[in-house]
Amino acid sequence: EKGGYDHFMLKEIYEQPSVIKDTYRGRLHANKGMIQMAGVEDNIDKFTNANRILIVACGTSWHAGLVAEYIFEEFSRIPVEVEYASEFRYRNPIIYPDDVVIAISQSGETADTLAAIKLAKEKGAFVFGVCNVVGSSISRETHAGAYTHAGPEIGVASTKAFTTQITVLTMMALRLAKAKGTMNTSDYQRYLLELELIPEKVEEALQTNEVAKMIASIYKSAPNCLYLGRGYNFPVALEGALKLKEISYIHAEGYPAAEMKHGPIALIDEHMPIVVIAPKQNHYDKVVSNIQEIKARSGKIIAVVTKGDTQVRALADHVIEIPDTAEALTPLLTTIPLQLLSYHIAVMRECNVDQPRNLAKSVTVE
Ligand code: F6R
Repeated sequence: EKGGYDHFMLKEIYEQPSVIKDTYRGRLHANKGMIQMAGVEDNIDKFTNANRILIVACGTSWHAGLVAEYIFEEFSRIPVEVEYASEFRYRNPIIYPDDVVIAISQSGETADTLAAIKLAKEKGAFVFGVCNVVGSSISRETHAGAYTHAGPEIGVASTKAFTTQITVLTMMALRLAKAKGTMNTSDYQRYLLELELIPEKVEEALQTNEVAKMIASIYKSAPNCLYLGRGYNFPVALEGALKLKEISYIHAEGYPAAEMKHGPIALIDEHMPIVVIAPKQNHYDKVVSNIQEIKARSGKIIAVVTKGDTQVRALADHVIEIPDTAEALTPLLTTIPLQLLSYHIAVMRECNVDQPRNLAKSVTVE
C-alpha cells in the first residue's frame, strides 16, 4: 500500500507531479486561455464584488493560505487577510456580508476551522471551501468550494495536500484576475502555461532527493535550524520549519529573511544551519545580502536556488537546485526539497515519520 516506498510520507511527496495534474485537470485550459472551476463560476459575482478575502485555516493549510495571500493580492488586487482559525473564532472578528471567506483544510474535519466557518456564515459572509476529503464536514458546511485532488493523505505531515491547495488557490486568483481585469493578457497567458508545466518541474525538483539526503546526513544532529525566505517564499520557510519540527523533533523556525536583523541573527554561530530559499526572482539581491550577513557570523547556509545560479552558490555551504518558473509559482517547487530534507533527517534520527508523537491526522478537538 506504500507503493514500494518506506513511508507514506515519501510516497506522497513523490505523488505530487501527478496529483497537481489531477487538481488542474479539466479546470486549467492553457491553450484556450481559460480557467473553469464550477464553484467559482457559479459565484463569480460574489468574488468580483468582494471587498476583502478572509482566509481561515490551521497548520500547513494556513501556510498555503499565506502563499495565496501574496498571489490573490498580486493577481486579483483584492485585499486578503489570513487567520489561524483558532484565533479568528474566539476574538469576535469583524466580518461583512460582502467578505468572501475561504476555508482551507485537507481533512475537512479540523474543529477550529469548522467553527470559524460557522461563525462567518452567521455573520452573512459567503464561505468557500478548499478541501481534500470529499464529503467532509467542512465541504458540507461551506456554500461552495473546490476540491484538491491529492488523493488520500496518510502521512501525518502534510505534503501533497499543501501543493495541491496552492494549485487550486492559484487557479482561483487567475480566474479572478481575468474577471476583474487586474492582470495584463500576456502575464495571464504566461501564468497559465507555466502552471501547466509545474508537474514536470516538480518531477525535476524531486531529483534533489540525493543531495537532500546528503545534507540531511550532515545536519541530522543539529538541535536547531532556521528557515528564511522572502515574498512568496516566506510562507515556504514557515512550512519548511514546521515539517522539520513535527517529524524530526528538531526545533526550527521560519522567518522572513529581512527580519533576521531584528533579533534572530543573534542566534547565529558556526553550529546553526540556516535554510535559505533563494530562487532567482525579484528579491534575489536582497536575499544574497542576507546570506552575506549570515556568512559573516559563520552560519551554515543550505540554499535552495534556481538551476544555474552562481551568486548564491559562491556563498552557500550547500545548494539545492530547482527549475526556473514564474515567480508566484516558485513555492510549488521550493517546497519539494524542504519536504525531502525533513523526511531524510527524520529517518536518520529513527523517528516515526508517518506518525509523529503527540500528533493526529485530523485535529477534531478544539
Ligand atoms: C502539518 C499538518 C497540520 C495540518 C493542520 C490542518 O503537517 O498536517 O499542521 O495542516 O492540522 O489540517 P487540515 O488541513 O486537515 O485542516
